[in-house]
Amino acid sequence: MTATAEPQAGIRGDQPPVPEGAITVTVKIHRFNPENSEDATWESFDVPALPTDRVLNLLHYVKWYIDGTLAFRRSCAHGVCGSDAMRINGVNRLSCKVLVRDLLAKRNKHTTITVEPIKGLKVLKDLIVDMEPFFEAYRAVKPYLVTYGNEPTKERIQSQADRARFDDTTKCILCACCTTSCPVYWAEGSYFGPAAIVNAHRFIFDSRDEGAEERLDILNDVEGVWRCRTTFNCTDACPRGIQVTKAIQEVKRALLFKRF
Ligand code: SF4
Ligand code: SF4
Ligand code: FES
Repeated sequence: MTATAEPQAGIRGDQPPVPEGAITVTVKIHRFNPENSEDATWESFDVPALPTDRVLNLLHYVKWYIDGTLAFRRSCAHGVCGSDAMRINGVNRLSCKVLVRDLLAKRNKHTTITVEPIKGLKVLKDLIVDMEPFFEAYRAVKPYLVTYGNEPTKERIQSQADRARFDDTTKCILCACCTTSCPVYWAEGSYFGPAAIVNAHRFIFDSRDEGAEERLDILNDVEGVWRCRTTFNCTDACPRGIQVTKAIQEVKRALLFKRF
């Protein structure tokens, strides 16, 4: 079941495509609609799937052919925009990057895939969470180039070695998989969280930037980097393969030794 065109959403009774070789998997989705109830429930949908389908395809199938009220975010469908972070079988992932074949039950048993919203942020509806606290922490670390003095008359030159210093943290797509897999963030939502620190790192170690000390002051705060317990959940969760915990450690070292 690889959907490409989007049919009219949520029309029950449409004849959905069932490709040859599809198997039936159950998608068990955490549902919440504050207009109907204060309580969340689980709802299961049987969906035809090919091993090469992604979990996002299954959610599209549910929304387009079974229940148009299902709410989730997605945009690019190719691991670029970062909008479809969710917990799939208990692990934070982008639904557009997880293949059904990697979730199939062993020995031909029936496969059930659970899908929940990411944790630590308020659920607005179904799989959609309020991302504002996440972006508030991101904005707080000044995730942009800070310079003082006159505008330069020519471009700001940077060596390849200086550029390589922060290459890893430029890859962040702000999906929130890391921050919402962090036990410290779950317990204390006031913690800046790994994604904000990753984006601070991207500029702290940029040789053209002059705002490193301001950012380090911000991250030296009681809600800052010292809250990190180095459990590596964030690194494991990052769909871009960013060494998140290492970046946090580097920011800690920059604070301790004032070297960046
Ligand atoms: S390494 Fe630090 S930021 Fe990452 S999940 Fe663990 S406590 Fe959270
Ligand atoms: S560091 Fe990785 S997991 Fe965290 S927001 Fe950026 S891309 Fe997502
Ligand atoms: S939909 Fe854009 S990253 Fe998955």
